[in-house]
Amino acid sequence: MFQDLHALHTRTSGRRILDLFAADLRRAERFSADLGEMRLDYSKTQIDDAIRAGLIALCDRAQLADKREAMFAGAPINETEGRAVLHTALRNLDGGPVHVDGAEVMADVRLTLARMRRFAEALRSGALPGAGGAITDVVNIGIGGSDLGPAMAVLALAPYHDGPRCHFVSNVDGAHIADTLRGLDPARTLVIVASKTFTTIETMTNARTARDWMQRGGGDPERQFAAVSTATDRTAAFGIPGDRVFGFADWVGGRYSLWGPIGLSLMIAIGPDDFDAFLRGAQEMDRHFQSAPWEKNLPVMLALTGIWHHQICGHPSRAVLPYDQRLARLPAYLQQLEMESNGKSVAMDGTALDQAAGPIVWGEPGTNGQHAFYQLIHQGKQVVPCEFMVAARGHEPDLAHHHRLLIANCLAQSEALMRGRPLDEARAIAAARGVAGDELERQARHRVFAGNRPSTTLIYPRLTPAMLGRIIALYEHRVFVEGVILGINSFDQWGVELGKELATSLGPVVDGTESAAAKDGSTAALVDYVLAHRDT
Ligand code: F6P
Repeated sequence: MFQDLHALHTRTSGRRILDLFAADLRRAERFSADLGEMRLDYSKTQIDDAIRAGLIALCDRAQLADKREAMFAGAPINETEGRAVLHTALRNLDGGPVHVDGAEVMADVRLTLARMRRFAEALRSGALPGAGGAITDVVNIGIGGSDLGPAMAVLALAPYHDGPRCHFVSNVDGAHIADTLRGLDPARTLVIVASKTFTTIETMTNARTARDWMQRGGGDPERQFAAVSTATDRTAAFGIPGDRVFGFADWVGGRYSLWGPIGLSLMIAIGPDDFDAFLRGAQEMDRHFQSAPWEKNLPVMLALTGIWHHQICGHPSRAVLPYDQRLARLPAYLQQLEMESNGKSVAMDGTALDQAAGPIVWGEPGTNGQHAFYQLIHQGKQVVPCEFMVAARGHEPDLAHHHRLLIANCLAQSEALMRGRPLDEARAIAAARGVAGDELERQARHRVFAGNRPSTTLIYPRLTPAMLGRIIALYEHRVFVEGVILGINSFDQWGVELGKELATSLGPVVDGTESAAAKDGSTAALVDYVLAHRDT
C-alpha cells in the first residue's frame, strides 16, 4: 500500500532538507497547518509536494473521512470490543445530539458534568468538609488512563491551580502510596478512586490501603471517598455512596477519558470554569479535524508525518520534546495514548500486518533532555524524528528572560538537527583551536553532525487550559488517523492482558503458598530467590 511513497523515499533520501528551503521561499508557510494561533510546522522534514500528495492519497484510500464521521457519530468502530469510541462526546459542549445504539447520550454527559461541577465547587469552597475540616488535599488513585491524564494536566495547568493540592498514586509498589500519604491529614484529605473497571489490582489495593489509613487517622471514608468508574455496582460494593460516584459509559476508552469524570481531580484543582475552557479547546480541535482540508488539518498532517517517518523512512521511534517544564508528564501520557492504541501486529480483520504499526514514543522536556540524550539524537547512527513544542509566552512575566532562552534552545535544536555540521566546518573549528595534522582529522570527525534530521514544531501563544485541550485532542486524532491508515483497531489493548493473568497466578507462588514447579526455570529460580531473601 505504500509502494509509491517508498519509491519517493528512495528518490529523495539523499536530499538535504535545507535545500528544500533554498528552493522554496514559502516552504515554512506551505508546510505548516494552523488552528487559530496554534501552528504545526512540518517543514523541517523531507516532505515535499509530491510526498505530501502521496501521503494524502492514503487518507482517501483508507476512507478516512467516512471513518472519522463514523467515530463522531457513535458507530461501534472498536470492533473487537463491540463499542463506540466517543470521547469526543464528553467535550461536545455546544454540539448537537449524539446517539449510541439509538439512544441519545449527550443529556447524560451534561448531567454528569453538572454533578462534577457541583461537587468540585463544594469541595473548593469548603462546603463539603472532611472529618477534620475543609479538604486540603486530593489523592487520585488510579493507573494508566485513570492516572496519566489528570496527573499530566494538573501539572501542565499549575498556573491555574487554585483548589486543594492534588496528588496521584498509581503504582502498586507500597512506596508510592506511603510516600504520598506521609504528611497528609487523613481527616482533611479526599480520596478519588479512579478506575473504569473498578477491578484493576493496583488501584483496588491502593484504595483499600488509603481507606485503612484514613480510618486509623480519624478521617471518614464515607465522606472522604469518591469514585469514578463505569462499574457503579462495584463502587457501591466498595462502600462509596452513590452521590459521590461519577459514572461514565464504556464508549470512553481509558486512555481517552480525561475529558469526563476521570478529570475530576483536574476540575477540583483548576475549577469548573477552567475545566470547561479545557473541554472547549478540545472541541475546537474536533471541529477543525472534522472540517479542515487534509493538507491544512493538524491531526492529519501530524499523523501523515508520523507515517512518513515510521512506515516509509523506517525510523523506529519518535521523541516528544516539550519545551515546557509543566508538560513533563506529557511524554508518559502520549506513550500510553500512542503505544497502547497503535502498538498492534494484526489488522482489524485479524490478518497479520506486514509492517510495524506504531513507533516507540519517548521524550522529556527541554532543555533538560539536551543535557542527557540529545547527543544520540544529533550524532547517533539511528535517526529519531523529533516533535518539539513550545509556547511563545510563559506564565512568569518577571522571568521573561528565562522564556526567551527556552525558546532559543528549542528553535536551535531543530535548526541544528536539520543543518548539521559538515566535516570541513568541523576541521576549521579544530584548526582554530590549534590542532593540526592527523590529530586535526581525528578531532574533526568527532565534531561532525550529519544533520538532515527531521523534526516538527508545535507552537502556540501560551499553555492555557484551552490550549492544553487542543494539544491533547490533536494527539488523540493523530493516533486515530494513523490507525485508520494502517487498518488497525486503535481502541482495544489486548496486549496488556497476559501479564495481568500471569501476575494473578504468580501471587500465591510469591507468597509461598503454591509451588513454582510448573513455572519455567528462570521464573522458578527467581521465586526461590525472593522466598530466600524476603525476610532478610
Ligand atoms: O492495563 C491497561 C489498562 O486497561 C488501561 O487501558 C487503563 O487505562 C488502565 O489499565 C486502568 O484501567 P482502569 O481504569 O479500569 O483501572
